[in-house]
Amino acid sequence: MKKVGFVGWRGMVGSVLMDRMRAENDFADIEPVFFSTSQTGLPGPEVGKPVPTLADAHDLDALSAMDAIVTCQGGDYTAAVYDALRKAGWQGFWIDAASTLRMQDDSVIVLDPVNAGVIRQALAEGTRTFVGGNCTVSLMLMAIGGLFEHDLVEWITPMTYQAASGSGAQHMRELLRQMGYLRDAAGDRLDEAAGAILEIDQGVTAALNSAAYPAEQFGVPLAGSLIPWIDKPMDSGQSREEWKAGVETNKILGRYHEPIPIDGICVRIGAMRSHAQALTIKLRRDAPLADIEQMLAEANESVHVVPNEPTPSQQQLTPAAVSGSLDIPVGRLRKLSMGPEYLAAFTVGDQLLWGAAEPLRRMLRLVVA
Ligand code: HSE
Repeated sequence: MKKVGFVGWRGMVGSVLMDRMRAENDFADIEPVFFSTSQTGLPGPEVGKPVPTLADAHDLDALSAMDAIVTCQGGDYTAAVYDALRKAGWQGFWIDAASTLRMQDDSVIVLDPVNAGVIRQALAEGTRTFVGGNCTVSLMLMAIGGLFEHDLVEWITPMTYQAASGSGAQHMRELLRQMGYLRDAAGDRLDEAAGAILEIDQGVTAALNSAAYPAEQFGVPLAGSLIPWIDKPMDSGQSREEWKAGVETNKILGRYHEPIPIDGICVRIGAMRSHAQALTIKLRRDAPLADIEQMLAEANESVHVVPNEPTPSQQQLTPAAVSGSLDIPVGRLRKLSMGPEYLAAFTVGDQLLWGAAEPLRRMLRLVVA
């Protein structure tokens, strides 16, 4: 049985990964060793079998004894440990949620329902570093992988609606505090059936602009508002999140020559853990909508097509509908008035599942099989 080290398993993505691995009985097929940056020697988590006490996540000898290491600890940890481990000659599988190594030549971005071929070839060629993709990119590819499979995509503009979880656990808490603050600002007037809505709104607007509005994490209001910038600025004028859409998608697909242009605007909205995106897709040719729907639906087990009708769209294509599930609905499918080669689509997915933990879990299964 392969020895697998886990680092960062208590954080938000790590906890989701642990839950999924327990649910799929993955621990039965490996010898897990849990590492910690602060609690060496304490008992490990409950995974259905005895595990050793927590090992030191900075102990290179202990890490080197692993056949595979799965880390959700974050980019700083990867930067601190990965090069030293490799330089010391460790040739195990490094499976990482952080973006640090994503664009390195010797790493592969994993999303096996979409790029199993790229992963298989990389394994055969000796690649040992596998990194989960950016959540928005992975969720988009899970939704419209069928179009890439049929080489139908000339370019895409994704306009995103990203949940608070993408910024971290503290941001999710702050979003809820912001919601509560606004509710409190509305006061008793909200319960009065005849309460003047403009008065309520004035109170809420004043609260949004008040110095007391809880915005330590986001810096600005998210609840009752939105934030049209995610991550650092790039020289191109894109945010780093927007830049990732193009470079990561093409790397996942193994399209090093003739990359497909993918570029849009990324926006944070007040959802908890599911990212949505509206896509404008320029097709390489005019394919009938029914064929497109079939290609999309057949691409993987998680995606399903939602009819372009009001009720199913309102009920199924939302963060509320998919949070906590592996479902990837894609809908609002229609040809845009610009012409028959312009397709609209809207999709949503759990940012912590297919957007983060699930591709790593499945990659681990591939290497320990
Ligand atoms: N960068 C993403 C976001 C999350 O901020 O929503 C991680 O992929």
